Amino acid sequence: MAITVWPVTDGFAAEIGDVDLSRPLEADEVAAIKQAFWDYGVLIFPAQDLTEQQHVDFARHIGPIEISIAALNSDAPQRIRTDLADVSNLNPRNEIWGEKSRRRALGVGNRLWHTDSSFKFLPARASLLYARSIPPIGGHTEFADMRAAYDALDEAMKERLAELIAEHALSYSRERTGFTSFTERERNNLPPVPQMVVRTIPENGRRSLYIASHIGRIRGLSEDDACALIDRLIAHATQRQFVYTHRWRTGDLVMWDDRCTMHRGTAFDDLRWPRDMHRATVSDIANTCEQAGIAVAAA
Ligand code: OGA
Ligand code: MN
Repeated sequence: MAITVWPVTDGFAAEIGDVDLSRPLEADEVAAIKQAFWDYGVLIFPAQDLTEQQHVDFARHIGPIEISIAALNSDAPQRIRTDLADVSNLNPRNEIWGEKSRRRALGVGNRLWHTDSSFKFLPARASLLYARSIPPIGGHTEFADMRAAYDALDEAMKERLAELIAEHALSYSRERTGFTSFTERERNNLPPVPQMVVRTIPENGRRSLYIASHIGRIRGLSEDDACALIDRLIAHATQRQFVYTHRWRTGDLVMWDDRCTMHRGTAFDDLRWPRDMHRATVSDIANTCEQAGIAVAAA
């Protein structure tokens, strides 16, 4: 059966029906999903029942899977497989984390507007977040359309941003939340990386802002000017006309294009309700400066 594409917002989020992601997909189904993905940027697949393997198998249609930073930075056993990011508030025994848990302190950063893995030299292309259990109240995810936000900039700002290169680091966004206790290994694994502030999405030719709370510097600007510009751009890009808020249902899989969206989690009572979310993350094809034809060195 052909998949169904139901727009949820005008041109940014759509629900995909008549598809069961737990089974192998036909080539025409994959092609239709990809087409909808390039058209919209956020796709919602409701009522899915997936094993970890089926989740990863579906994500592989979009590209190669990234290893989660938890696995990169720690040899400790993880609650879920290391090619899935554990976005839950649960410990390896599936209990709600403690108030003082380190993962909790790090996870607060997901409440800031960001795009996944922009702090990696090879950033993410897409994220596929799957809801296994959700709190009865709160814990939504908001998405902002960076193509529409770019289009709405005035010409002078578009010109100013055209060639700018920002430096992204996980430590920059975590500093904003007061988290500074990164280990030596984490700092070495994740040094600041360069990314374009504006990029072009190859599949549809649209220009997009590529910004995040992970930005701490912009080449050629003072630190103060860089932070002021980023704060201003994030405020512009997250105005309500650019934002879709996803209220989760168990079994939703939401896939977003990290190249042209930002997202953030909203608060919930994370010491009371389990929220079990798994994320598969697909790598982009190259660093954004390289994609723009600008040679940069990986740190
Ligand atoms: C993510 C993320 C926010 C949320 O999974 O990348 O930022 O609402 N999640 O869980
Ligand atoms: Mn995220």
